[in-house]
Amino acid sequence: MIELNKVSKRFNEALAVNDISLRVEKGSFCALVGTSGCGKSTTLRMINRLIPHSDGEILIDGQPIEQLDPVKLRRRIGYVIQSTGLFPHWSVARNIALVPRLLKWPAEKIDARVEELMALLGLPFDEFVGKYPHQLSGGQAQRVGVARALAADPDILLMDEPFGALDPLTRDKLQEELARLQARLHKTVVFVTHDMDEALKLADHLVVMREGRIVQQGSPLTLLRHPADPFVESLLGGLERGLKQAGLTRVKEHMTSLGPQVPAHSRIPGDFTLRQGLSMMLRDHTERLTVVDASDVPIGELSLRRLIKESQSERGTPRAG
Ligand SMILES: Nc1ncnc2c1ncn2[C@@H]1O[C@H](COP(=O)(O)OP(=O)(O)O)[C@@H](O)[C@H]1O
Ligand SMILES: [Mg+2]
Repeated sequence: MIELNKVSKRFNEALAVNDISLRVEKGSFCALVGTSGCGKSTTLRMINRLIPHSDGEILIDGQPIEQLDPVKLRRRIGYVIQSTGLFPHWSVARNIALVPRLLKWPAEKIDARVEELMALLGLPFDEFVGKYPHQLSGGQAQRVGVARALAADPDILLMDEPFGALDPLTRDKLQEELARLQARLHKTVVFVTHDMDEALKLADHLVVMREGRIVQQGSPLTLLRHPADPFVESLLGGLERGLKQAGLTRVKEHMTSLGPQVPAHSRIPGDFTLRQGLSMMLRDHTERLTVVDASDVPIGELSLRRLIKESQSERGTPRAG
C-alpha cells in the first residue's frame, strides 16, 4: 500500500533521511523507532507530502505520490501529531469536522460522522461536543486529534509520537484503545515513536532507524530474537529482551503434548502469554505447568527445560549435555 524506494531527504547539505526502502502492507501497523533526530518525522512528512523528498520514489497503491491529487491524498491520509494541532478557537465538533468540511460534505452527514467518531473514541457527545481545546485534558485532546484524523475515513493513518506528551497511565490506556481500534478498522498505519515498548505493543512491522538510515526491519518477534546489532539490541532493552519476547507469544505455541508423567499441579490457559507462564513458574516454584483450554481441560504441558532448549536452538548455540 505504501512503498518507499531508496528515498532520501536533504535539508541544505545535511541528509536527514538516507536511502531508505520500506513497504507497508495494506492493513498493517508499521512503527518507525529510533532516537531523536534519526529522521522519523521527516519520513512521515514525506509520505503525506508535507515536505518533498529529494531522491527515490514514494508510492501509494503503486502510484508515485507526486502524481496524486493533493486533495485526494489529504482525504486518504489521516495525520496525528503529538501537540494535536487542534484549532484553539474551534469547538471539539468543529475540529473533528475539519476534513469533511474541506471536502464539502453535506451538514447532516458531517454531524452524523462527528457523533459516530466521538462515540468511537470514548468522548461522550453531550459532554464534549461544545468544549474547546483548552478545556480538555491531554488524553482527551489526543482522542479528538485521532477522531479528526479518522473523520473522512482515510485508509492510511500517519501518527507522529501521538502519545509522547501524555502521562504513563493515560498513554497505556490510549495505546490499548488504539490497538482495539486498529483491530476493528484495519487502517494502514505508520506510527512514529522513540518508545520501543510502545512500538512492541502496537506494531506488526518494526523499523529501527539511526542517523537517517534503516538499521533493521521486521516483525517484533524477529527483531527480539535476532537483533541485527548492539544498537538494536540496546533499544530492545538488553536484559529485558527475553521477557519482552515472551510477552509476544502464547503459551500454547510452546507447549508439548501431555506425557506419561504426573500432570503439573499449576494450570495455565493456552491463550496466556509465555511471559505470564514464566511468571507463574516463579510464583509456584515449578518448572512445569499444565496448559488448559477455555473449558479448563488439559491440552499440553509447558516445560522450562524445553523452553531453554528451544531458545538455544533458535540462537544456533550448541546444546549443553
Ligand atoms: N525543516 C528542516 N530543516 C532543516 N533540518 C531539518 C528540518 N526538519 C528536520 N531537520 C533535521 O533532520 C534530522 C531528522 O529530523 P526528524 O525527522 O525530525 O527526526 P526525528 O523525528 O527522528 O526526531 C534532524 O537532524 C533535524 O535537525
Ligand atoms: Mg520527530
